[in-house]
Amino acid sequence: MSFLVLEHIKKSFGQTQVVKDFNMSIEKGEFVSFLGPSGCGKTTVLRMIAGFENPTDGAISIAGKNQNTLKTNQRNIGMVFQAYALFPNMNVFDNVAFGLKVAGKPKSEIDARVKEMLALIRLDHLADRYPYQMSGGQQQRVALARALAPKPQVLLLDEPLSALDAKIRVSLREEIRQIQSQLGITTVFVTHDQEEALSISDRIVVMNAGRADQIGTPSEIYNRPATRFVASFVGTLNMIDATVADPAANTVKVGENIVKLKESIGALKGGDKISIALRPEAGSLSESAKGDTSLTGTVVLSHFLGSVIRTKIDIGGNQIAFDMFNAPDAVLPQPGETVTLRFNASDFLIVRD
Ligand SMILES: Nc1ncnc2c1ncn2[C@@H]1O[C@H](COP(=O)(O)OP(=O)(O)OP(=O)(O)O)[C@@H](O)[C@H]1O
Ligand SMILES: [Mg+2]
Repeated sequence: MSFLVLEHIKKSFGQTQVVKDFNMSIEKGEFVSFLGPSGCGKTTVLRMIAGFENPTDGAISIAGKNQNTLKTNQRNIGMVFQAYALFPNMNVFDNVAFGLKVAGKPKSEIDARVKEMLALIRLDHLADRYPYQMSGGQQQRVALARALAPKPQVLLLDEPLSALDAKIRVSLREEIRQIQSQLGITTVFVTHDQEEALSISDRIVVMNAGRADQIGTPSEIYNRPATRFVASFVGTLNMIDATVADPAANTVKVGENIVKLKESIGALKGGDKISIALRPEAGSLSESAKGDTSLTGTVVLSHFLGSVIRTKIDIGGNQIAFDMFNAPDAVLPQPGETVTLRFNASDFLIVRD
């Protein structure tokens, strides 16, 4: 049985339903990210798990125990927020000790646990500092230690890195993931940054307007997006307007090119419109490269971006972005040049709404 289970969760504020039939089963020790645009309901779901909001409908259980009627302080959940929410008038030690003091733990136990937590976040030397004397990244590490100190059964992180600059974000997300794995704590991490979600999650829930559009591993979400929304929200994607060429052969027409797809086009007829999608990194820019199928088009422009060269190519009125890795002797495709890209049939995704 899964550890944290959300069943048919709905939430309305007044007349507006902001969470619509949300279902999710999270395993013990799993790291799950909620990924979605602003306002899609990520924080609201998190707040319902923590008990700050009650669902309008549906059940929340942890370790087989229904949580709906439990108050926040009876749920044994650790939470870290986006804004630095440390107590400004307490030093690091007292911030981390707070939950343990409230729980009435003996002083010796509190001292030992706080030391252990500060070692875990590598801030043992800053126990006497006050929040205003620390960087944002350090404050968030203390917030993490404070959340973990009472040994919660679930850890909830609501965009804990969004106020930090890019470099710190990357190192701190790796640190959070490493600490989470070490402790084996079941974790839900909210973000609207797709790279963050892809890089550290066991599974991702892509949320769209109060629903889970897709739940899957980072690779499943990226390589097999279930909906148009997921396809466009996660990573860069070329959307191509095509028409069905020969349903029996599973081929479509893009401009003058006939393209064979791996995924079945289903019950469509010749001439029907179909949306297909391609990642910019799929395929290779060489007629002689291996591949089941090819697309010929005209270069519109090329951008040198450092590690990759991104070329926009017009194929039958569709402008597609194509990325190739940089090499010292790489020649940029020139505007106006006719080029042929080779693909595997499996590179093309059929996008359904
Ligand atoms: N207490 C409330 N009363 C009324 N509406 C609310 C309340 N809390 C949230 N909402 C609305 O519910 C919707 C979802 O909000 P939520 O905070 O869950 O979004 P989010 O996905 O966390 O967005 P963000 O990425 O911006 O943090 C929004 O339209 C928001 O305005
Ligand atoms: Mg939010």
